Amino acid sequence: MIKSKDWIKDLVVYQIYPRSFKDSNNDGIGDIKGIIEKLDYLEYLGINAIWLSPIYKSPMIDNGYDIEDYYAINEEFGTMEDFDNLLSEAKKRNIIIIMDLVLNHTSNKHQWFIEASKSKNNKYSNYYIFKDGKNNKEPNNWGSTFGGSARTYVKERDQYYLHLFAKEQPDLNWSNVEVREEIYKMINFWIDKGVKGFRVDAISYLDKTKEMLDAPYPLNNEGYSPCKAFIAGNETTHNYIKELGNIFNSRNIFSVGECFIQSDEDFKKYVLTESNEFDMAIPFIPPVVEIKNISPNYLKNTFKHRYEILKNGGWRANFLSNHDKPRQISLYGNDSIESGKMLATLLHTLPGTPFVYQGEEIGMTNVYYDSIDEYNDLDTKNYYSYLLKSNKSKEEALKEIHLTSRDNARSPMQWDNSEFSGFSKVKPWLNVNPNYLKINVKSELNNPNSIFNYYKKLISLRKNNDILKYGDLEFIDSSDGTIVYLRKYKEIKWLVVLSFLDKEIDFKIDYKIKKVILENYPLKENKLGSYQALILEIE
Ligand code: NOJ
Repeated sequence: MIKSKDWIKDLVVYQIYPRSFKDSNNDGIGDIKGIIEKLDYLEYLGINAIWLSPIYKSPMIDNGYDIEDYYAINEEFGTMEDFDNLLSEAKKRNIIIIMDLVLNHTSNKHQWFIEASKSKNNKYSNYYIFKDGKNNKEPNNWGSTFGGSARTYVKERDQYYLHLFAKEQPDLNWSNVEVREEIYKMINFWIDKGVKGFRVDAISYLDKTKEMLDAPYPLNNEGYSPCKAFIAGNETTHNYIKELGNIFNSRNIFSVGECFIQSDEDFKKYVLTESNEFDMAIPFIPPVVEIKNISPNYLKNTFKHRYEILKNGGWRANFLSNHDKPRQISLYGNDSIESGKMLATLLHTLPGTPFVYQGEEIGMTNVYYDSIDEYNDLDTKNYYSYLLKSNKSKEEALKEIHLTSRDNARSPMQWDNSEFSGFSKVKPWLNVNPNYLKINVKSELNNPNSIFNYYKKLISLRKNNDILKYGDLEFIDSSDGTIVYLRKYKEIKWLVVLSFLDKEIDFKIDYKIKKVILENYPLKENKLGSYQALILEIE
């Protein structure tokens, strides 16, 4: 089956992290009714797709990426009726709902796992990956992505199960056709309800045929990842994804995979039209790696490279933020309004589909909590303990956490300047960033020069100008700290100029400017200002 889903090229996706978006019943946790309350806001912003991070029943060890029941809504988020209302209310506003599909693992509270753990010979025994130990220890030395061993012992079976993430997230056995059939049935259930797309979590890791090979380093030290060495992108995984692709494509469903990309060839397999896998891929880059590499050049080369690879078919997902990364304005900018707008310009003028993460449209920044106790994320807490064990002081460790923690993106949405930022009337599950008094939706809506209103302009610009969707991309050599590129479509040429520098520099534009399409502040002759962004029509 060949994909022909041109409609996906018109999407501007807004990612909602439900726990942190809007609390309607004042229990301190965001919920589905809260999302419905804010649909008018999202429609006004101009987006036409919402990706919901998981809302399924879950013990919330990894905030929903540990699913206990694929057919139920987590109580703290509401009911199935609320979800159906969300679907229909979103539809009225021409917004589609994209669900998160977590298929590599379930929660250890999932009924399948509870049954599988009981014995070696029941219906579910082969739903997960259990192995005998060696000399009373784990069968090999793999470390999990979140630290510690990737195996946990179960007494009833006298065996160890594999978990590439937390021990509460046992990996499913995709080589068992019954597992795959259960999963496909479940996907069809949500499509029948009216869900129009899926973001598919940690999808590169499905095939575990090499799980018994020993890793060269014990555990996950020194940045070593057994997932990368033995698992990501195996041929069999691609075959499983093609089975998923058959469902998505035959039912005209949008799909984006979170992919650990091993090579250019691997990337192509995930998204080239003829490979019948996903429509787009979100390349997985852990925050720590990203922060170490961070520079405009790194960004430029990454976008350039991805563009070249997919030039002959295949579509791109563009994003600067999500729930696993620090805030873009703090990571690539300097928390200023101008840097927020500059980054927005990059996101919306690259070829592909923009993914906006909640709060970036008002310039929400990293949080700098005073103590590790204020953090919630299990990965953050594990990393903090690892830093202390590596002889960092508490202060040094906290400093690194400020930069890298996933909770930077998870602090509650800042709706107004009332207590708890209008997110809730009670103390939320994660503290509000104290800068909500200044940075909040209410004040941005009223200010024509706000980041919000700039996002609104960019989204409408993309909607009304095919050059941004279909135009070619050509990067132009430019001075360090700047990114410059041309978009070309039919006779039209737009030049995009972006500065990642906190100072004004001499800068000459070697083209005849016909018109300023958008700028975050006025262009000065032969100068480029701090974090300046320009979209210029040229001759
Ligand atoms: C990727 C998700 O984005 C992340 O939040 C989660 O912890 C892991 N996959 C495990 O599901």
